[in-house]
Amino acid sequence: MRPIVARISLDALANNLRVARQHAGQSRIFSVVKANAYGHGLTRALRAFSASDGFGVLTVDEAANLRQMGVDKPILLLEGFFQASELPAIVELGLIPVLRSSEQLTLLSRHPFSAPVDVFVKFNSGMNRLGFPLERFDLVMGQVKTLKNVQSITLMTHFATADDERGAAWQAEPFLNIAGSSGLPLTMANSAALLRYPQFNSDWVRPGIMLYGASPFADASAESLSLKPAMTLQSEIIAVQHLKAGKGLGYGCIWQADKPTKIGVVACGYGDGYPRHAPSGTPVLVNDKPTRTLGRVSMDMLYVDLNELPDAGVGSAVTLWGEGLPVEDVARSAGTISYELLCALAPRVPVVEG
Ligand SMILES: Cc1ncc(COP(=O)(O)O)c(C=O)c1O
Repeated sequence: MRPIVARISLDALANNLRVARQHAGQSRIFSVVKANAYGHGLTRALRAFSASDGFGVLTVDEAANLRQMGVDKPILLLEGFFQASELPAIVELGLIPVLRSSEQLTLLSRHPFSAPVDVFVKFNSGMNRLGFPLERFDLVMGQVKTLKNVQSITLMTHFATADDERGAAWQAEPFLNIAGSSGLPLTMANSAALLRYPQFNSDWVRPGIMLYGASPFADASAESLSLKPAMTLQSEIIAVQHLKAGKGLGYGCIWQADKPTKIGVVACGYGDGYPRHAPSGTPVLVNDKPTRTLGRVSMDMLYVDLNELPDAGVGSAVTLWGEGLPVEDVARSAGTISYELLCALAPRVPVVEG
């Protein structure tokens, strides 16, 4: 068996939800568990996040899985529905769809909910991805109120820059000015806003990435936020190569030794979810000691520099990310974000809990 494994720590997941709870104060928490709980496994996340007040998912299928697993808490469909054929399941499963487009409203006027449903109405306050324009608030709310079987309305927006120095106020303030005066419940915060802008917590918060132990910020580590990495991707060195100066390594020979170099070949590649575009120099741990990747990542293997690790050899433990090596650091080196690496964990990687 290949030595690669992803270890998922339920304790870390539960710890991270506790941290979210501390920041949330009186606000209720939708734990965002879309994309297979950011790669951690929906069932597993559900066990660790049993103290959530609700769950945020993308698809009716994900919501149906949660209901099948016995979840009777609110389940928010973060993008609502895409087709009329999803409406009966939404009613039957008691899901909360996000209404975010005039197409959805037209569809609902033709195919009304057959029983009372709670809805979230999403307004675009600057992200320009989904949601009704804030300027059309009165018109949209007038339309929503004419829909049959809408039993409660919560107003929602989503932040584009809560994770960087531009912050969330430039979106939250106009949203609060307009939506806040309706007296309806509100939801705005993702992880970054929950951690940095408690003044915008409102009725519900919707943390995702922080629950999995990664920092949403470039300027603050997960550790400094008391978050614990929940996924550790581990493997082993399966071969050692001694390169003479001038010799190339791997596909394309894009890395060449400028001095004699001891190379470890690791059983992990892009077929496991490791980013192929991670350049030479991406951080990696061998026997818990920091070193770097070298050369081009291939489907099943990648290379690490063992020059400073004389004791390392075949069988040495390799940490690709997780405990001891924040996934954010690997993501930064690869020009991406932790979200993408966690979600991309390939189904062929065995997962163990612990
Ligand atoms: C609408 C919505 N709310 C909340 C979240 C959670 O965001 P984060 O993982 O940054 O906390 C997401 C994630 O993409 C989202 O799309």
